[in-house]
Amino acid sequence: MTRRTRGVQPEPARTAEDVRAFFDRIASEYADSHGDPGRLLRYRARLLRRWARLDGDELVVEIGCGTGDHILSLAKRCASGVGVDFSSAMIRRARERAPDGKVSFRVDDATRLETFGRAEADVVVCVGSLEHVPDKRAVFAAVRRILKPGGRFVCLTVNGGYLWHRTVAPLLGFGTRHIATDRFLSQAQAAALASSAGFKTVATRFWSFVPRGDVPPGISGLLEAIDVMGRLLGVGAFRGGLLILAEAARA
Ligand SMILES: C[S@@+](CC[C@H](N)C(=O)[O-])C[C@H]1O[C@@H](n2cnc3c(N)ncnc32)[C@H](O)[C@@H]1O
Repeated sequence: MTRRTRGVQPEPARTAEDVRAFFDRIASEYADSHGDPGRLLRYRARLLRRWARLDGDELVVEIGCGTGDHILSLAKRCASGVGVDFSSAMIRRARERAPDGKVSFRVDDATRLETFGRAEADVVVCVGSLEHVPDKRAVFAAVRRILKPGGRFVCLTVNGGYLWHRTVAPLLGFGTRHIATDRFLSQAQAAALASSAGFKTVATRFWSFVPRGDVPPGISGLLEAIDVMGRLLGVGAFRGGLLILAEAARA
């Protein structure tokens, strides 16, 4: 999906049901719009493996899995994987890509995770989806419920403190949300949500997310340079991606 958002209004939505209907509509053409999909997938999978400390012997669940790229790429690093999405059209596409049975897919809402029992999963990951969920508090609570003692939640989302999204894009007339209900968490908001859901340890980091699909090449080049500067100088406001690592207490 290629998209330039100067002057473009976000997809109208008021409820989670509107969000689900939007993803059902775009599922057949859904693809990463922010750069070379293979390179981005390898980078994000590396981050997930590293921060979730995957040991190859665990049940890993991906929430908001879309067509399944990330959970499928982690298959070798888990005993079994389950991808979950509330869009049945996304899950249909994901199932077509999971022939060997080690990774399976379910229709479920990340705010409820009703198809899982308490303390069932070792690791939960989430990539590019939390920003689309209006009730983020419910996501943290549901993830905490299904994690075993010592389980890890690693979430790659958009940084709410990103200077481009917060200040510069609105000034230049670029849209930053694809759906009207999209909201981006700051480091502090993410940490507060995870703590109040009962996670014992919470850490946040930044990762390289440059919204290439939303801006012309000249601007994305500039944002890439700013991202590098942010990484070298440790300036969070220059980084587009927020990584949340939340760990459940050991028994
Ligand atoms: C931008 S896509 C990202 C998909 C995938 N993680 C990837 O990186 O390719 C966001 C996905 O989150 C899903 N999603 C949004 N809200 C959800 C919710 N409450 N429960 C489950 N899935 C949700 C959407 O249906 C969509 O497939």
